[in-house]
Amino acid sequence: MCTGPVEEFLDLGRQPLSDAFVAPGEDPSREYFFRLALGRCAACCMTQLIEVPPAERMFHQTYPYRSSSSAVMREHFARTAERLLARRRDPFVVEIGSNDGVLLGAVAARGVRHLGVDPSGDAAADAAARGVRVRVDFFTERIARDVRAEHGPADVVFSANTISHDPNVNSILRGVAALLAPGGEFVFEDPYLGSVLANTAFDQIIDEHVLFFSVRSVVAMVRRAGLELVDVERLPVHGGQIRFTAAHRGTRPVSPAVAELLAEEDDQELHDSARLAEFAARTRDRRRDLVVLLRRLRDGGARVVAYGATAKSATVANYCGLGPDLVSAVIDATPTKQGRLTPGTHIPVEPPEAFGPGKADYALMFAWNHAEEIMAKERAYSESGGRWVFYVPEVHVV
Ligand code: TMP
Repeated sequence: MCTGPVEEFLDLGRQPLSDAFVAPGEDPSREYFFRLALGRCAACCMTQLIEVPPAERMFHQTYPYRSSSSAVMREHFARTAERLLARRRDPFVVEIGSNDGVLLGAVAARGVRHLGVDPSGDAAADAAARGVRVRVDFFTERIARDVRAEHGPADVVFSANTISHDPNVNSILRGVAALLAPGGEFVFEDPYLGSVLANTAFDQIIDEHVLFFSVRSVVAMVRRAGLELVDVERLPVHGGQIRFTAAHRGTRPVSPAVAELLAEEDDQELHDSARLAEFAARTRDRRRDLVVLLRRLRDGGARVVAYGATAKSATVANYCGLGPDLVSAVIDATPTKQGRLTPGTHIPVEPPEAFGPGKADYALMFAWNHAEEIMAKERAYSESGGRWVFYVPEVHVV
């Protein structure tokens, strides 16, 4: 990815692929494991996984995550589409990692020319049902040149939660630079390293989150492809993200927000070894606190389930050793996850109908980034005395 030496600061141990739910009848002993560890490049400051599983193992035909599973995110992407299209006449919009078309559906609904590029055929089929055109492929420099030859240059290239997921990021960025029309913009949203550290959100570290962006590391990353970071905007979604805007170097004024956030990162010593070591120590504390609490609840006879079979929860469950003895089920509304077992820890995934008043005493909030939405939906559980267990930013019960 980058050329400097990567210095490791956190080891989360042997982990499965976070979205590799085990189907009934599948042999769980054939699961793929790797060492989940995080380091920082001494040259460009990019925080990144030390060992990266092959992209084809993570993102494939039956990739189970669906971006539209949250009402809050559906609304977020509808508003984002509106912003991307504002003040543009007859644009061509390309999305890298279009999943089930949650964003491009809003683009297609306005009759705007678009193309999604995504390696999951199943997700692309869901997108097609929203009227979205998808090319089932990984976005690379070669594919980008192909898209340009077939459809012409793109006025907007958008991507959410994908650029930080792909170890071939340099090829992606060269592709974006080749595909963008003069005056075009590349807008991408991804988890922010600053938020991960501030919240001790160690569960953001998963196989799919190959890179953890800061403004400083993204400036260097896009520069390698001849692009320039021209704007940044903090987003509250998914526990704290940044919407980055890049353009061909020298073609757009750079917003003062870039220098402001760079200065804030320096103030907070975001790339400092001591800061990263402190985050690693807090992560180990969270594991101790969570395991102590869950064992106490089990020994006291409480019924404990978890809510949200998130990719993030694979890190928590495997790092903390949470199996069906401590958490009897994980509730999730995604049909492609239900009836399966969680990766590595083999907890059954059950639909929301299996949850509710009297069905559990404690629910471990794996989908803490969607807590408000889920707790509103499950108000009856809380009103009947059901409790929620959180581990971000600290272990606590509400
Ligand atoms: P995410 O944090 O990676 O977006 O994953 C959220 C998971 O939680 C996803 O599998 C869908 C699930 N979920 C529910 O089951 N019910 C809900 O109300 C919401 C918002 C998410």
